[in-house]
Amino acid sequence: MWESDGGLLARVDKTKMPRHVAIIMDGNGRWANCRGLLRNAGHVAGVKTLKNILKTAVNLKLEALTVYAFSTENWKRPHTEVDFLMHLFSDYLEREKQEMHENNVRIKFLGRTEDFAPALQKLMRESIELMKNNTGVKFNVAADYGGQDEIIRAAQKLAYRVKAGELLPEDISTQLFEDELDTFGQPPVDLLIRTGGELRVSNFLLWQAAYAEFWFTDTNWPEFTPEEFIDALVDFGKRSRRFGTLNN
Ligand code: FPP
Repeated sequence: MWESDGGLLARVDKTKMPRHVAIIMDGNGRWANCRGLLRNAGHVAGVKTLKNILKTAVNLKLEALTVYAFSTENWKRPHTEVDFLMHLFSDYLEREKQEMHENNVRIKFLGRTEDFAPALQKLMRESIELMKNNTGVKFNVAADYGGQDEIIRAAQKLAYRVKAGELLPEDISTQLFEDELDTFGQPPVDLLIRTGGELRVSNFLLWQAAYAEFWFTDTNWPEFTPEEFIDALVDFGKRSRRFGTLNN
């Protein structure tokens, strides 16, 4: 089992915890450049950070953690970097899946999967299968994911159901739409964290983050620590969430 740093976790008021935290893990390349390293070294360091943050999420008994590993736009990066990220992704799953399983993590992938190499797709299916009965943190890895793409895929599925006579257009509700999203059955995003200093959403969880609280930091992802993750959670606990009403 992953050990927990009780002192650190005690800073979080459990009654004010977000149910679902999403993270845009940005700044790997800049972290590496600053050190005279190749961008890929930043991604390697980023995987270590991810492992630490997942561990913290497990120890906090967070309900869902979603991370942006590879966007639909990331295919436009140089081939060498795309290949490297794919290998890193495979290695990560190969190396970590058993330990995640032992920590009751349930992994899921958001996004398209069909353009990944068959071996990677197989590993993704095996990881889902291995952890499918786990009841701990729902760990969503967004890979070949774009929020607009996800919404279009959901709209297409509903349109086909209307065409097949299963539904009327006016039957389409928020709930029905959510059931067609990659995150079906999961709570909406409460807290969206972005590292690396940029202040944008970058096509991430556009539907699910409708009422998310945002937390931005200049820290590049490889240097993001469990302590800073806890800072974000503590700050979330102080926010007044009104969901469009006058009080909560
Ligand atoms: C953004 O940094 C990061 C990515 C595009 C990839 C994120 C990937 C990881 C953290 C590691 C791999 C993940 C898994 C699940 C194995 P950037 O390259 O855009 O940084 P920059 O903005 O400084 O260039």
